[in-house]
Amino acid sequence: MEEVTSYFGKPMTQIEFDELVQMPRLTMQTASLTPLEKSQIALLVTAIKPMTIIETGVWRGLTTRFISELLSMNAMDGRIVGFDFPEVIDELVADSPYFRDKANITFVKGILPESLEQWLAANRPTIDLAVIDADHNYFAAYTELIAIAPYMAEDGYIFCHDYGLDQSNHEGVLCAVNDFCRRFGFTMLPFQSRPSAPKTLRSCQSVILRKEMKTSFGRRISHLKKYVKRKFFTKPKDIKLYKLS
Ligand SMILES: C[S@@+](CC[C@H](N)C(=O)[O-])C[C@H]1O[C@@H](n2cnc3c(N)ncnc32)[C@H](O)[C@@H]1O
Repeated sequence: MEEVTSYFGKPMTQIEFDELVQMPRLTMQTASLTPLEKSQIALLVTAIKPMTIIETGVWRGLTTRFISELLSMNAMDGRIVGFDFPEVIDELVADSPYFRDKANITFVKGILPESLEQWLAANRPTIDLAVIDADHNYFAAYTELIAIAPYMAEDGYIFCHDYGLDQSNHEGVLCAVNDFCRRFGFTMLPFQSRPSAPKTLRSCQSVILRKEMKTSFGRRISHLKKYVKRKFFTKPKDIKLYKLS
């Protein structure tokens, strides 16, 4: 980290990205989040330091492992709970020593959404980050989202993969997420490369959800009053230069 004092007379810190976030190796494989999508998750994880992360749809564990390594490399105590069919989890653990007895990973074997609903009812967690990436149809995405909604931390995030375009293969996820957000008061930020972009290491097709941040009625009125004053009763020539103290 370097401190430069000459930027308009104010101290300014310069920092390399790897001083801020220790990034595990990024991987690309069919059906797994792309490297850019994994990076997006890394930014969320390092920003919010989640204690409980869930991932529906583990497959070959590339995203599970990425998050597990990210937590360890950045000295974070969180853990990830991954859900998939028993056969898929058994094969993954048999094939890959990384997943055996890894303290920050728990696998839950079963059929979604029932396996998720049962685990939530038994553990009553507060979920800080959820990665929704099992089956890509309306039923799967909607039932998983409504199952986790009551357990989401007020400032928690949901990352849904394959938030598809209208009339694409993954249109069901698009409809399910939109309906869920309307019903449960979540806001969404689609994180999508241009529709015409070819499938590359940088392509992305996901959406990030968060509960709408509330403001009190009184504060809103106070800001609206200032807006009206500036818009209708102030001339541009009367605006004072904005100065930082
Ligand atoms: C797209 S892959 C997950 C990829 C993983 N999240 C990654 O980024 O590497 C989807 C996974 O969801 C699992 N899956 C799909 N439907 C399921 C269901 N009803 N119950 C349990 N697992 C399911 C599949 O077995 C598959 O492993």
